[in-house]
Amino acid sequence: MNEKALSPERARRIYDRIGRLYDLAESFGDRAKETVLRGLAPTPGMRLIDVGAGTGRDLLRLQRAVAPGGTVFAVDLSMVMLRLARARSGAPACLADARRLPFAREVFDGLCCTYVLDLLPRGDIPLALGAFRRVLKPGGRLALASMTEGVTILSRALIGGWKAVYRLSPALCAGCRPLLLAPMVRSAGFEILRREVVVQFGFPSEVVIAARVD
Ligand SMILES: C[S@@+](CC[C@H](N)C(=O)[O-])C[C@H]1O[C@@H](n2cnc3c(N)ncnc32)[C@H](O)[C@@H]1O
Repeated sequence: MNEKALSPERARRIYDRIGRLYDLAESFGDRAKETVLRGLAPTPGMRLIDVGAGTGRDLLRLQRAVAPGGTVFAVDLSMVMLRLARARSGAPACLADARRLPFAREVFDGLCCTYVLDLLPRGDIPLALGAFRRVLKPGGRLALASMTEGVTILSRALIGGWKAVYRLSPALCAGCRPLLLAPMVRSAGFEILRREVVVQFGFPSEVVIAARVD
């Protein structure tokens, strides 16, 4: 597919503008995110990070699951999104790029990142996965969801139309286009524990649950 992905600066400006409206898109990905959050297997006391936390809906659920004693950090490139996430959840929030996470090595038990890798330029996805691996403890869980290729008649048709619009203007698709995550996750030094495609209202999402291997 013709690649003219958004620059990080453009993505930031777009998500600054979308802000709270992003909640309207939830219904296309909430089943996939349910699988992501379960795959992260959060338990009390864990230290987790949600990269590209958006408006912070998933943070609330994660926070409940790691209480008492645990912490969930929210990271986002957009200050507007980060403020919404913080207001909604009270989680510690950090304005940062997924490709350069400003945390020490091996500090998190788990990391989730939903619908963010699918808007990065392709060459930057290994950088982000490398940053995820660096901050995860050995054996730490990685839980991802992204838009992916269709697997049913409806989802193939929807993705075909989506790609046509993306070719015209990635901004019209809020920067997102379909990806195949699993091979990239494996190459970045993770063992895949589970991979599935979840289709909701014709919208296909790839969910990958993986563990850092050393
Ligand atoms: C499509 S939304 C997904 C939000 C949330 N994860 C969800 O699933 O509801 C993408 C989010 O990633 C953020 N984002 C985009 N590029 C990013 C980057 N390079 N690093 C960190 N966050 C980024 C956007 O500001 C936005 O909040």
